[in-house]
Amino acid sequence: MSRLTLDRMLQSQGFGSRKACRGLIEAGAVKIDGEIIADWRIEIETDGLEFEVDGRRWAYREHVYLALDKPAGVECSRRPSHHPGVLSLLPAPFTLRGVQPVGRLDHDTTGLLLLSDDGAFIHALTHPKRHVSKTYRVTTAEPITQALIERLCSGVQLADEPAPLAAQARQTGEHELEIVLEQGKYHQVKRMLAAAGSHCVALRRIAIGGLALESLGLAEGGWCFLDDEPLERLTSHGRKNFAD
Ligand code: URA
Repeated sequence: MSRLTLDRMLQSQGFGSRKACRGLIEAGAVKIDGEIIADWRIEIETDGLEFEVDGRRWAYREHVYLALDKPAGVECSRRPSHHPGVLSLLPAPFTLRGVQPVGRLDHDTTGLLLLSDDGAFIHALTHPKRHVSKTYRVTTAEPITQALIERLCSGVQLADEPAPLAAQARQTGEHELEIVLEQGKYHQVKRMLAAAGSHCVALRRIAIGGLALESLGLAEGGWCFLDDEPLERLTSHGRKNFAD
């Protein structure tokens, strides 16, 4: 159980500074149970709280966990330089409450991107020792060969890596394969493909741990909240097994 004054509650949910939140409240923009609450001093219980700001409904969340189907041409950096930033695809309160991508995808990579304002969650999922698997669909310029799949599975040496990096890989089309990695090195898939003698022309992340993008039913550029069950799926499969 936790009680906050209305201005502090709104601030915690990303609606701006205390002053800005008081302004919203006094302007009549905030409703609870369909009623305008114009006094920011009112204390409210945050557990299970739902509220409206400028007609949009929100549920109080201590932290947010989001999944986005990232389109191409969008950067994951907080200070994007060449393309729009991924946060521009989300409602503004998420940026103000400190939501950030969990790891990165290249600007031209599409697919499942998690975002959160929970630092411990981000750290746990991105920590190299955690081995949360990531599954990518790769389209290659040249037809896929069995030799390429074997090279990827047996280990590919990248210039700046101490040991060869191995993956699970399987062919899914003439120019398409799925690859499962447990690390998240810079341009890892593209560099592994290149080092194995191929060339990646399109890359899409289709799962993180046991959480498949397809199961979320998102449109390209669309996002959703992840609640307990999908969050558990993230770590439920330490390693995706193609035999499953
Ligand atoms: N590997 C890459 O090369 N790029 C990505 O965006 C993700 C993994």
